[in-house]
Amino acid sequence: MGNIAILCSGGDVSGMNPAIKHFVEYAKAKGLSPFLVYDGFEGLIDNKIVPASYKDVSGIINRGGTKIGSARSERFHEARYRQQAKDNLEALQIDKLVVLGGDGSFRGMAKFYEEHGIAFAGVPSTIDNDIVGTDYCLGVDTALNIIRVSLDAIRDTASSFKRAFVVETMGRDCGYLALVSGLTSGAELTLIPEIAYDLCGYKEKFKKELLEGRRYFLAVVSEGIKQSSQEIATWFEEEIGVESRVSVLGHIQRGGNPTSRDRLMAYRFVHFAIDGLLSGENDKICCFSDSQLNYKSIADVAHKEHHIEPALMELVESTTLHC
Ligand code: F6P
Repeated sequence: MGNIAILCSGGDVSGMNPAIKHFVEYAKAKGLSPFLVYDGFEGLIDNKIVPASYKDVSGIINRGGTKIGSARSERFHEARYRQQAKDNLEALQIDKLVVLGGDGSFRGMAKFYEEHGIAFAGVPSTIDNDIVGTDYCLGVDTALNIIRVSLDAIRDTASSFKRAFVVETMGRDCGYLALVSGLTSGAELTLIPEIAYDLCGYKEKFKKELLEGRRYFLAVVSEGIKQSSQEIATWFEEEIGVESRVSVLGHIQRGGNPTSRDRLMAYRFVHFAIDGLLSGENDKICCFSDSQLNYKSIADVAHKEHHIEPALMELVESTTLHC
């Protein structure tokens, strides 16, 4: 029936390994020969493309990261390296690719398809959950759970010491991780790039709460906000009068055993991707919206501004205070 390959591009997420496992199993079930591309587009260029068997993917379903590596490739932006990638695929008679990555990777693949006719199916994979056209990106649930566990732990020590803790989450320019984590951890302050804020709006409230017996504050801030986490902590010290500390969660958020949801979504996304490629969907992104998988074109996914769901925004906006 033909040869098909999978690669990971951009930031790794927990859920890529289950996706790779199901890719091999389902491709074989469909009579296809599966190949693994190591190190993303870099591996396509450098011919790190190997046939896969069941043994390559056994024992990986519970592991974070990606067994086949990922990369952010500068070279793939250049036509001569895309030609090299095409030559490598052609030599192995691979004409279909499943790409786990973000919208930048999908744009690269769309260009590759236009130039060389290699069909692809994109699986949105980023903890930032900032890809237009899909409500869910692979890895988000695991990242949220890692953040939740961290916040629960920090709350324990914050309460013991009468302190303010400013906890910084990832997300680049998207505040989704901070928004959901702030809400589900009962944070006193949640700051995200999408919502304008003035800290002075909180001063009176927080000082009053301290007088009434509050022992600690938990602030969840997204890495993309206009101030640094240290500036927020300094504000707690100087304006509210409470000792404060900063915790930058960093790459901890990208690792960890994939949750059940991410394992299941990995299976669903990859299944849908292979089915699409077999039915002539040659350049589509597999999206999950309104609780259903659907194929979207690159024009519907890339080159558009991402917005967090209004109903979620409202939950934070309704408690945002201004001066
Ligand atoms: O896009 C995923 C992400 O983890 C962002 O949240 C973060 O800003 C960035 O990648 C970090 O990139 P790197 O791993 O290159 O430091």
